[in-house]
Amino acid sequence: MSSLVESVKPIPLDPYNSHIDLSSAQYVPDSHTWPTLNDSLSTESSSFKSVPVIDLDDPNVFKSLGNACEEWGMFHLTNHGVPISLLEAIDDQGGRLFSLPLEEKLKVAQGPDGLKGYGLKHIFCFFAKLLWYEGFAIVGSPMEHARQLWPQDYKQFCDVIEEYDKEMEKLAEKLMGLLLKYLDINKEDVKWLEPTGGEAKTGSSAALQMNYYPKCPDPNRAMGLGQHTDSCMLTILHQSNTTGLQLLRAEDPAWVPVPPLPGALLINVGDLLHILSNGRFQSPVHRAVVNQTRARFSMAYLWGPPEDVEISPFLKLVGPERPLLYGAVSWNEYLRIKENNFDNGLAAIRINIDDQNDGHDQPLTN
Ligand code: OGA
Ligand code: NI
Repeated sequence: MSSLVESVKPIPLDPYNSHIDLSSAQYVPDSHTWPTLNDSLSTESSSFKSVPVIDLDDPNVFKSLGNACEEWGMFHLTNHGVPISLLEAIDDQGGRLFSLPLEEKLKVAQGPDGLKGYGLKHIFCFFAKLLWYEGFAIVGSPMEHARQLWPQDYKQFCDVIEEYDKEMEKLAEKLMGLLLKYLDINKEDVKWLEPTGGEAKTGSSAALQMNYYPKCPDPNRAMGLGQHTDSCMLTILHQSNTTGLQLLRAEDPAWVPVPPLPGALLINVGDLLHILSNGRFQSPVHRAVVNQTRARFSMAYLWGPPEDVEISPFLKLVGPERPLLYGAVSWNEYLRIKENNFDNGLAAIRINIDDQNDGHDQPLTN
């Protein structure tokens, strides 16, 4: 797996240069000052609604999942089967990692390729501002980094991550199966979802992203994670017990807070699933804001197909009512496109309807 760690450009960290330790900052420095966040898209919108809550044990769950993906692209999931003790263990490991002194964390800093390890992020090069954010990206085994951080005691971190990764993969595949059922697509027709016989159950790939938002002396002038959509197929997010996540409702438009629901996981559609569903499922725009009194931790599991498999809309979902919206693109290609068109990756690959009327054949490969 290579470039699966999502969304925003990593900032290469130079261990020999001083970095701001956000956790002890007394004010928001200019490097981190964003235009004021008290935008007109108030969280107090009169048409305020909240993200649906879906019970995975419900016999008709595929319908509510499908509806939620069409209407919101995001939902809380209860009875997901992931042990609460494992979610707590993830919180503990996140706390352990991010509370290390900055010099320690810099030992495992991401390189310029930004694949794995500790990092800060630029939201994208159009904004020169930094985020009130620290991250730790895991692709494959975190062993090498864990050994550097805790030479005597790295195993507990690795064990928890390994177990979490397994549980997440199982859940992502289950959700994908239910969403395919909703779309009336045969699971067998999605080749990359087939068991490979190897250690991985299917050919799917994934990355884990630990997100940490230190408390901030002036939260209205700083940004945790700027607005974006996720590039993957599905994201499973575990939020610790602090609010910060917000979703942009396109039709209102308003930022809707998505506070953690104790014991539940938060699922969102990513751009690849939006493409696969020919635009039926929304890939929601979301962001994370920071607060003055509490640091916040979250763990994102970014799941998708093998990075080189071309994804294109299911033919069954294309018709006179719904023209083909996208051509084929792999996760890897899409990440590259998104890097250059950050907040408009989907628009950059959208097929112009007029082209279809000209009778051009569009590549369809699923
Ligand atoms: C992400 C993300 C939100 C959060 O990791 O892509 O949107 O609440 N995280 O940390
Ligand atoms: Ni995201």
